[in-house]
Amino acid sequence: MRRLFPHPADAAGTVTVRDAYDVPRPAPPGRPWLSLCMVASLDGTTVVDGRSRALSSPADQEVLLTMRSLVDAVIVGAGTVRDEGYGVPRHAQLKVVVVSRTGAGMDFDAPLWQSGRAWLALPADSPEVPVPTLRAGTGTVDLAAVLAQASDRLGAGVMQAEGGPSLNGALLAADLVDELNLTVAPLLAGGDGPRLTTGAPAGLHRMELAHVLEDDGFLFTRYVRRAEPAG
Ligand SMILES: NC(=O)c1ccc[n+]([C@@H]2O[C@H](COP(=O)([O-])OP(=O)(O)OC[C@H]3O[C@@H](n4cnc5c(N)ncnc54)[C@H](OP(=O)(O)O)[C@@H]3O)[C@@H](O)[C@H]2O)c1
Repeated sequence: MRRLFPHPADAAGTVTVRDAYDVPRPAPPGRPWLSLCMVASLDGTTVVDGRSRALSSPADQEVLLTMRSLVDAVIVGAGTVRDEGYGVPRHAQLKVVVVSRTGAGMDFDAPLWQSGRAWLALPADSPEVPVPTLRAGTGTVDLAAVLAQASDRLGAGVMQAEGGPSLNGALLAADLVDELNLTVAPLLAGGDGPRLTTGAPAGLHRMELAHVLEDDGFLFTRYVRRAEPAG
């Protein structure tokens, strides 16, 4: 990958994905560091024909898989699991937390659920399901409390959120996004697909640019939450 920012020190300006993404991610008190990983078109959609595949590239997949190797758990919305299917993670350390109000439409016989590496995050008042759960909230999942449980019960110090836009919006609404790894695909896609977040109340969350890489016209941006001024 070509590193565009910070300005490369060497003439070639190349960097491996692992070197670029293997950075310290200190857990905030009581919960894991949360890194959001998404790909979007130039005109802002994150979904083409019901999936993200058309927006992605081999380098984008490498970023996603490298990040999975660096985190303890993934958190993903039930909609994405239903739309894209989620297999057993290839990285042995990785656990998967799927967020849902009821677990409806989930295939609990699928390899992901049979692997013993997946948990369903549900509201405390939702019906029993035949898989391990993390439960918090009433009616909807209290995501801050679920992240705290992921820290305590799953030993997660760093988690990667993998969408989709509804879960992202709920995470943003709870102010839980510490990092955004956003791939900008060199595509204009048209349509009315959802952007990175949907459903969060309007409000500005200031982020700091950490790096910009380039491969085949795709931009790989990394932003982190801007630290609050001391005092
Ligand atoms: N471009 C990308 O990088 C990218 C990444 C991921 C996904 N996607 C695309 O995004 C689309 C899916 O996104 P989406 O927004 O429709 O779905 P989603 O965010 O994946 O999942 C939404 C579902 O998650 C559950 N949920 C979210 N927040 C919740 C909360 N606080 N409490 C309880 N449940 C909660 C609900 O599940 P229940 O309905 O079960 O209650 C809700 O319907 C797919 O087309 C996928 O391909 C794109």
